[in-house]
Amino acid sequence: MPWSQVLAVGVDLIDEQHKKLFEMADQLFEAGRNRKAGEYIAKMFEFLEDYTKKHFRDEEEYMLSIRYPEYSVQKKMHDDFVRQLGVLRKKYDESGSNIAVIMEANQMVLNWLTNHIAKQDKKIGEYVKLKK
Ligand SMILES: [Fe+2]
Repeated sequence: MPWSQVLAVGVDLIDEQHKKLFEMADQLFEAGRNRKAGEYIAKMFEFLEDYTKKHFRDEEEYMLSIRYPEYSVQKKMHDDFVRQLGVLRKKYDESGSNIAVIMEANQMVLNWLTNHIAKQDKKIGEYVKLKK
């Protein structure tokens, strides 16, 4: 379930960042599958979390710049996802590098992203087109 054209929003910055998020979630999964060192995985998890936050900030800034009407719906979902990701990372740290938690995080990220992009972010692209 990687990024595909079906998930294209039509805004380059957003699409590039979405691709990168899928890539990072995949790399995290691979690192877990290949039993990489727990410390290394923890670092990747941290990168994923940081990049997710950066992406949401950029996307939110973009929505504000075009006066996107569903900004607050999106903001709430983003905040909620960041919280969920934080919970999983804490769970991973406290589990002493449990691989099952990595698998759970990978599934959660992929499912959430796919669903969120298809149902919410694509509407941003449609709105931009309408405005033109
Ligand atoms: Fe979004």
